[in-house]
Amino acid sequence: MASDMTAPILDALSASDAPLLSNEAFPSTPSSNIKSALDRLGSRQFIEYETIDRDVFTLSAEGAEIAANGSHEAKVFNAVVAALDGLKISELPGIVGKDSAKVGQGNAFKRGWVKKDADKLRATTETIVDETRELLLTVQRTKALSDSKALADLKRRKLVAVTKEITYKFSKGPKYAREFVKEETDLTPEMLASGSWKTAELKAYNFNAKGAHTTSGALHPLNKVRTEFRNIFFEMGFEEMPTNRYVETGFWNFDALFVPQQHPARDLQDTFYIADPLVADAPREDPPEDPHRLKSLTTNTDAKPLDYKQYWENVHEVHEKGKFGSIGYRYPWNADETLRLVLRTHTTSVSAYVLHQLAANPRPARFFSIDRVFRNEAVDATHLAEFHQIEGVIADFGLTLGGLIGFMEVFFAKMGIHQLRFKPAYNPYTEPSMEIFGYHDGLGKWVEIGNSGMFRPEMLESMGIPKNMQVYGWGLSLERPTMIKYGVNNIRELLGHKVDLNFIESNPAVRLEKN
Ligand code: PHE
Repeated sequence: MASDMTAPILDALSASDAPLLSNEAFPSTPSSNIKSALDRLGSRQFIEYETIDRDVFTLSAEGAEIAANGSHEAKVFNAVVAALDGLKISELPGIVGKDSAKVGQGNAFKRGWVKKDADKLRATTETIVDETRELLLTVQRTKALSDSKALADLKRRKLVAVTKEITYKFSKGPKYAREFVKEETDLTPEMLASGSWKTAELKAYNFNAKGAHTTSGALHPLNKVRTEFRNIFFEMGFEEMPTNRYVETGFWNFDALFVPQQHPARDLQDTFYIADPLVADAPREDPPEDPHRLKSLTTNTDAKPLDYKQYWENVHEVHEKGKFGSIGYRYPWNADETLRLVLRTHTTSVSAYVLHQLAANPRPARFFSIDRVFRNEAVDATHLAEFHQIEGVIADFGLTLGGLIGFMEVFFAKMGIHQLRFKPAYNPYTEPSMEIFGYHDGLGKWVEIGNSGMFRPEMLESMGIPKNMQVYGWGLSLERPTMIKYGVNNIRELLGHKVDLNFIESNPAVRLEKN
């Protein structure tokens, strides 16, 4: 550990009322050591100090050699003088060294110390002043040089190097004392009891200190984005549908939604069917009271109980022969298919279920859900066999497609998406249907953000929803906006065993409307 300099500093000051310089008072103590003690003392006004930094000049190895033995040109001159009758140029390197011979000869000529006589060098003067050496000796002694031009020249020749030297000039502060008492960091019951708190030096709070990192649980990004979406729905007056049924019957997942029984979506490749039990034993007539029924759908007293048998028959007829102005699909409808158990492929099964409850007392209503759905898909960077669907439903009298488009603009604007494009699409249960594309400012491109439509009369009227009531529906995935938000390119980094828990713990909160 670095030695504590607080006591030596206070001692040094006790003998002096004038400021002291750290490099004089403590020439061999590292300045970082001195600084930490000065800071500690300064924060309690025991001392005051200022920092002085200045450039200091030291000799390079070559510079030191010249300071000791003379410059190259001086060596050449001395060698020539020592030869008495001139020195053969070819002998020079052997005497003064190759480097000194090369540089020194030229400089000795320039200074007029030697001249050439055939193949010999002769001295032209008896004494010389070795200026370079003199300058270097001054630098060595004083670490400075007043002649700045000469100094620059020595630097250029790499004989002198510059370094920064930090010195502290310190003096007694208003609360100077010889003894530095350690500050109390805690006010203890003992201090209160004895009264010592009155005179204790209490350590000031450091509000700039960083708090210790505490490990904690963390919300998954999908959860954070889900919360954002829920808030958007709630502020727009939506009620949350109960999505507790992962396993659905074919009836609610497909038949009620007018998905024909031969539809590719119902194929084994797309849907996970439950093996055990294979089918639901749910009665085809009135089911037991649903404990998860939405509050708003239970509290009304005018509701007439829905005739399940009739509803079931309506679905049957709509598929097989057509009804309510629809010509139907005209195929033999197999009632057993409706009881097959599937992992729901979309939350629209929940919407259908809730809408049929609404049919008991049709009135304007807004519902949403955000939950898991399952599809028998090949898993790749953007697809998993299960994901979360965000689903919205609006039921009202006299709704039009323009109203749906207008609503989408408001809805997606709350997520920061302000430009939408709609493309005609197909869903068995909606007509018209539209894919929704949004311009994502963050990505700088159009991305597909959802699917939507107006539920078919075949579906709604079968339930008993009146002809003059229309229902909008739309769905989007929760994963997609989450991946975009957090810049995740591979869905497996967001869900499943490849997830990096540090990423989950450290990712920030989101605001959907901020790109
Ligand atoms: N079920 C559709 C899907 O899975 C979304 C949707 C819901 C479309 C309701 C229209 C109406 O993509």
